[in-house]
Amino acid sequence: MTETAFAGRMRHEKFFTGAANKRRDDLSYHASILVERIPGRFPYATWNSPEGPRDVAVWCSNDQLGMSQHPRVVGAMVQTVLHAGAGAGGTRDTCGTNRMLLDLEAEIADLHRKQAAVLFTSGYTANSAGLSAIARLVPRCLVISDEHNHHSMIEGISKSGCKKRIWRHNDLEHLEQILKEERGRPTLIAFESIYAMSGDVAPIRQICDLARRFGAITYLNEANAVGICGAGGAGMAEREGLASRIDIIEGTLAHAYGCLGGYITGRTVLVDALRSHALGYAFTNALPPPLCAASLAAIRHLRESSWERERLAQNVATLRAALTRAGLPVGPGEGHILSLAVGDIAVARAMCDALLADFGLHLRPTGYPAVPRDTAYLRILPSSHHDKTMLTVLVNALAEVWRRFEPSWRYQPDAAE
Ligand SMILES: Cc1ncc(COP(=O)(O)O)c(C=O)c1O
Repeated sequence: MTETAFAGRMRHEKFFTGAANKRRDDLSYHASILVERIPGRFPYATWNSPEGPRDVAVWCSNDQLGMSQHPRVVGAMVQTVLHAGAGAGGTRDTCGTNRMLLDLEAEIADLHRKQAAVLFTSGYTANSAGLSAIARLVPRCLVISDEHNHHSMIEGISKSGCKKRIWRHNDLEHLEQILKEERGRPTLIAFESIYAMSGDVAPIRQICDLARRFGAITYLNEANAVGICGAGGAGMAEREGLASRIDIIEGTLAHAYGCLGGYITGRTVLVDALRSHALGYAFTNALPPPLCAASLAAIRHLRESSWERERLAQNVATLRAALTRAGLPVGPGEGHILSLAVGDIAVARAMCDALLADFGLHLRPTGYPAVPRDTAYLRILPSSHHDKTMLTVLVNALAEVWRRFEPSWRYQPDAAE
């Protein structure tokens, strides 16, 4: 390598080192720990601790109904890989469409009682590619976005190039005020049913009422609700009897369905347009058939079986009550994601390290950029498979680390994510 080439490379490497160090300095550096889930023993996993492998109980997985290890789901994946192979072999247009994708899209549309559905490789892509295409396709579209919307939605809205207005989290008066100010302009209201960080729930009915009054389109992200809420797992809109009043529903197959992939469901004309205009759909290889088969099995299973949902709801209620009794700062909301306010990310990390090393409990802290700077939470995701003893062990351990670290910050809804 010439001297100039070497100097050039070093200069570029400095940018990346600088970027990573900046994250280290403000404590937002991405640090994962190596935890291998144990097949058949959900929610236990093996942590590769400095002293060697150790069993730990997982309290931070999106797989809240244990579907990633369900025999029907695993069986469908294995069967399909044996007769269809591992990958789809192309984008949907080139040579990637197969029966599994079509069946899965039909099942999703039927689940949400919509005309059609379109699959993306993740929930993130569904929002970033799908939402941006939808907004772009409506001339002069204004997008009104809840301030706590997921980054994938924020990215989709930015990419659309449309005018955007942020409405204060779940604040209906503010939403109405913006709708009045922008009256006469084509408008899309983008929001989530259950917010990922705080676990609080949107006033879906009132948002639908405002949308109807002002002629706006509704785009609802149900990533944290599908599989878990509503009859057959169709989400919060279904649970509230509002599915028909939501124009567009987005969901993920990676949370309660335990697999991978994302989707948008709505009217046939919309889905048809998305297939040609959402670049993150058209220019990427299709989801592998085994993954589609597994997702299909998970959706079908959760449409028939409700014990997982009921057990999870019981566990959430028991845990919320026990945390409150123990004086721990659990956030408001009725969702199945529980947040404990810590405030300082360094303290939150130290608490999680102690929970793991001293109690064998795997929880992760949430800080910037998932939530605003100077806020941090411990997020607890109970599952249908945690038992009563595990709940008690968790609450006692949390109470102990709270005594040890004494974080003083309380949950502040206005400062939340
Ligand atoms: C609210 C919300 N939307 C979208 C996503 C992205 O979904 P996926 O993980 O399938 O990309 C997530 C992921 O956690 C989420 O919580």
